[in-house]
Amino acid sequence: MNLDKLFNPRAVAVVGASDDKTKIGHTLMYNLLRGKKRKVYPINPAFKKVEHILCYPSVKNITSEIDLAVIAVKPEIVPAVLKDCGEKKIPFVIIITAGFKEVGAEGKKLEEEIKTIAAKYKISLVGPNCLGVMGVQSDLNATFAGDLPIKGKTAFISQSGAVGTAMLDWAKKEKIGFSKFVSIGNEAGLTENDFLKYFTDDSSVAAILMYLEGISDGQKFVKLAKKITAKKPLVILKAGKSARGSAAVASHTGSLAPSEKIFQSACRQAGAVYVESLEDMFNLAKMFEAGLLKPMTNLAILTNGGGPSVVMSDLIEASEHLSLAEISEPVKNQLRKVLPPTAAVGNPVDIIGDALSDRYEAALKILTEEKSINGIIVILTPQKMTDVKETAEVLVKYKNKKPIVPVFLGGEAIIPAEEVFKKNRMAYFHDLRPAQKALDALAVGVKKASADAPAKTKKDETVSVRQLDFEESNKLLYSVGLKTVGVFAKQKTDLKKALVGMKYPLAMKVVSEQVIHKSDAGGVQIQLADFAAVEKAWDVIVKNIKIKVPKAKIDGMVIQPMVSGKEVIIGMKRDASFGPVVLFGLGGIFTEVLKDASMRVLSVAEKEAMEMIDELKGSAILAGSRGEKSVDRKALVKIILAIAKLAENHPEIREIDLNPVMATSTGATLVDVRILT
Ligand code: COA
Repeated sequence: MNLDKLFNPRAVAVVGASDDKTKIGHTLMYNLLRGKKRKVYPINPAFKKVEHILCYPSVKNITSEIDLAVIAVKPEIVPAVLKDCGEKKIPFVIIITAGFKEVGAEGKKLEEEIKTIAAKYKISLVGPNCLGVMGVQSDLNATFAGDLPIKGKTAFISQSGAVGTAMLDWAKKEKIGFSKFVSIGNEAGLTENDFLKYFTDDSSVAAILMYLEGISDGQKFVKLAKKITAKKPLVILKAGKSARGSAAVASHTGSLAPSEKIFQSACRQAGAVYVESLEDMFNLAKMFEAGLLKPMTNLAILTNGGGPSVVMSDLIEASEHLSLAEISEPVKNQLRKVLPPTAAVGNPVDIIGDALSDRYEAALKILTEEKSINGIIVILTPQKMTDVKETAEVLVKYKNKKPIVPVFLGGEAIIPAEEVFKKNRMAYFHDLRPAQKALDALAVGVKKASADAPAKTKKDETVSVRQLDFEESNKLLYSVGLKTVGVFAKQKTDLKKALVGMKYPLAMKVVSEQVIHKSDAGGVQIQLADFAAVEKAWDVIVKNIKIKVPKAKIDGMVIQPMVSGKEVIIGMKRDASFGPVVLFGLGGIFTEVLKDASMRVLSVAEKEAMEMIDELKGSAILAGSRGEKSVDRKALVKIILAIAKLAENHPEIREIDLNPVMATSTGATLVDVRILT
């Protein structure tokens, strides 16, 4: 639908126009008259003139054409006024008035009435219960908010008028421009989808922000959003997540909040950016204002401070879409030539604490030429000598060569830089995390460059890790009073001797350093009823491993009785900073999928080991329910403490994996062990 006349009407009528400065009808007149010279007609049967302009009792008394009427009269008068607009053939009507479906049954009835009138007269309706519409490029302010923001290329669709005014006011302070704004209210006529559709091909709109409380037609929305995101970014902030939030929303616009998770996936599916706070939305508006609309995924960090750049690097590495660019050797050499010897020329490029603007410039000159980098984060911390304003000016000088995102940390000292950035429409940040979040959001849908590449190990960090064999592992476990269940057979011919005294049915598992996920590799056979079955299982496992992990060396097999119980995992990992850390979690699928685990740094007391079991999200599974008995927590505590002791006694052990440990109400059995030194 063509909404040109809504955002740029030739003539507007204000129904409920007033000279009373406290009335919405007055603000509407004031805002409309401040804009471009277009005909504005006050409508109010009580007055001859409003704002010194001839006032009409009804729109029907005006002889010339009117493109838009804005209604601000009591709800019960609205149907009659709307009918007048229909008879006058006004194509667009904004109903500011509240008191419709959002207030309950009576209001809902009234809303149905206005829907019928709008349909009968083919009126395109905005609202009711809305703030109005702004066509910033066409100088139209048909709202009762403050002045228009500066002209920009971002459109904003808001289901809440209050969020709209807050956002627009903030934009004024930050000098962020907008192209169009619409407060959609109860959407009795035009919906968010109608506006999205119109903005898709609107060349004055380069990016779209939306604040939503409910969605009118989800499937249509995903289809539309997909089309939009192929051309321009679409950012969505959605309210009504919590049960309480939903209740507030229901009484606000009367929309029912759809399930949050579904909404998030729909955004993902459509390539839209889902944000969780107004601040995140503001920050993206800042990026758009600066012309930063495309993903910047291969980033360089230029900094005068080590600490903040480490934090930023970590944030980038952890992000779903962003990567740190690999700086090539020739570029590093160029940087070395212009930077002091103590500067770091990798990525981050650390030009050290006493850097002045000239050093930033020298580095930027080189980095902005580097093709593989598609964005530069420039971090500054203000030391006594730091020339903050001049550095900001350097960034302005280079911003058209390569996208630059300044993160100037501090308070008072960085104010002069903010002014420079604002004046020159650069998106700047006061903190690292918001900058990373904004960059990440822009790159939505882009796969991390290094995601599929194998993890890099720096040469000097290469370490040889050895997995202990079955006998070595059990010897260590024995030293702290633990043992795994079952026997080990190196060869098939050893089976007879090894199985003496064991009760069927049995289970068999492959022992191989290369086979970590034994079941997946076909390395486990269970319910073996007799010796013949055990022998057959051996051959099956060997065959499976040959196919699934051809390079694996089979050390032998472990043969165990069938153990039942609840699967848990108990482990230890030696951390570079904290030393040994013990871990307890629910086993099997819970470990991989839910990542439900608790950890403690050594040393661990009995009470802490007990807490580790109780603090799991799924601890109720172990506690037993519906008449089921609780697992033997004391037996589990004993194993946790023994593992901690093993880690203390053997500094050469890097990792221990007791997975699974089968817990029952009368004890716990160690089924499998993996120890790395
Ligand atoms: N045609 C034109 N004007 C009419 C009229 C008619 N048929 N009937 C009455 N008016 C005039 C009144 O004379 C009055 O003029 P005055 O203020 O100079 O006396 C003016 O319209 C206002 O109408 P009134 O009926 O007195 O209503 P109100 O001032 O109590 O409030 C609203 C009207 C729309 C502002 C109010 O009902 C409302 O909805 N407020 C909340 C709006 C809101 O929050 N919207 C959502 C934002 S997100």
